[in-house]
Amino acid sequence: MNIEKKYHIITFGCQMNENDSEKIAGILTKKGYTYAEDSKDADVLVINTCSVRGNADDRFFGNLGQFKAVKQKKEGMIIAVCGCMMQQEIHINDVQKRYPFVDIIFGTHNVHQFGEFLDRKLEGNKKRVVEVISDGPIAEDVPMKREFDYKAYVTIMNGCDNFCTYCIVPYTRGREKSRPASKIIQEIRELADNGCKEVMLLGQNVNSYGKRGEITEPCSFAELLDRVSEIEGIERIRFMTSHPKDLTDDVIEAIARNEKVMNSVHLPLQSGSSRVLKLMNRKYDKEKYLQTVEKLRERIPDISITTDIIVGFPTETEEDFAQTLDVVEKVRFDSAFTFIYSPRHGTKAASMEGAVDDAVVKVRFEKLMDLLHAKMLEQSVEKYEGKTVEVLVDGHSQKDENMLCGKTRGGKLVNFHGEAPMGTLVNVKITKPTTFHLLGEVAE
Ligand code: 5AD
Ligand code: SF4
Repeated sequence: MNIEKKYHIITFGCQMNENDSEKIAGILTKKGYTYAEDSKDADVLVINTCSVRGNADDRFFGNLGQFKAVKQKKEGMIIAVCGCMMQQEIHINDVQKRYPFVDIIFGTHNVHQFGEFLDRKLEGNKKRVVEVISDGPIAEDVPMKREFDYKAYVTIMNGCDNFCTYCIVPYTRGREKSRPASKIIQEIRELADNGCKEVMLLGQNVNSYGKRGEITEPCSFAELLDRVSEIEGIERIRFMTSHPKDLTDDVIEAIARNEKVMNSVHLPLQSGSSRVLKLMNRKYDKEKYLQTVEKLRERIPDISITTDIIVGFPTETEEDFAQTLDVVEKVRFDSAFTFIYSPRHGTKAASMEGAVDDAVVKVRFEKLMDLLHAKMLEQSVEKYEGKTVEVLVDGHSQKDENMLCGKTRGGKLVNFHGEAPMGTLVNVKITKPTTFHLLGEVAE
């Protein structure tokens, strides 16, 4: 009897990691594995790690230990660990020493080879497989098992050359490199042929798309947006992340002229203090950031602007923090991810003096959240009160199973009453805008 082999993948971190996990799932599916809801039932368990902040590391190590017992109960189970943490010597050594039950360790540049690594173990190789290279080109034509039919992540570039002083990404994802436009267009055409309506173009810094890598045909990010817009069947195009220093006029014009490109930009601020921004090596200052926002709003009045902010970067003073609050007050972000600074081994900021006291950081963080939330509510009411908006139906509301949910063109979550098939675009009348989401009902 042929017993079905199963896999399970645990993914930490960003959309890039989620997209890598879709590739790992694709490789396993091609090998005949099916998905197991519960990791305990898996013949192959893959843990895709994130290293961007300290709590991601802690969550991984907090989780890993329990799989020793799981593996003991499931004969022949293979456990693989990959992702950004496995690009760092310190973590590879830790896993090797403390977790001997891990069978395969591989890096972010080796994802496409996972099938070969697995074969080595299945052939009875007793030795642990460790395959990590420090950098490599983006592999093409890797099979992918996507989570949804109607929306998809498409990686357009990978890696980063910016070296913001707090950030580990340039060390874990390597140098910036773009995929050839023809490959991206081909992937999105295939998605559209299979019913996909919304694509999210992914990269650490999408605005510098086309500048580095194996460029066989010149194509800027603005041109790429034009080309993706031409693909029949695709109705919504999102992208992230935009670095404020690279959000040039031609990209703003491409968003404005292409109806399918969503009016939504994720524009990480990190800090409102020009002094701190300099220490962070962000290459823009407070004024330049505010000018970029002004330009965006002038050209695309209903644009949604979301951001990332770090509190407690080394040497941050009350005055620096007041500048961050000032930008939040002025810009009124539609939503924001806020982080407490955490030193990352190997980055420049990790050896900077002037650590900010934990208690001070906590007070600042709460102040920031209060202001952000007040401004988010203001934006939500101004933009959506009494309006009818287009929503891509995405599932059931987490709070109420009887309600559907989905996102507006600006990326705001809507929970709504009414009937509509999954993956379709519907008009929803907003009955109540709140800070984090909107409530509504399907419009007649
Ligand atoms: N500490 C805190 N936040 C960080 N981020 C990146 N590195 C760190 C760090 N060391 C945040 C930034 C980035 C987001 C993905 O994570 O705000 O935009
Ligand atoms: Fe990290 Fe800066 Fe690159 Fe973003 S732009 S991935 S924050 S180094």
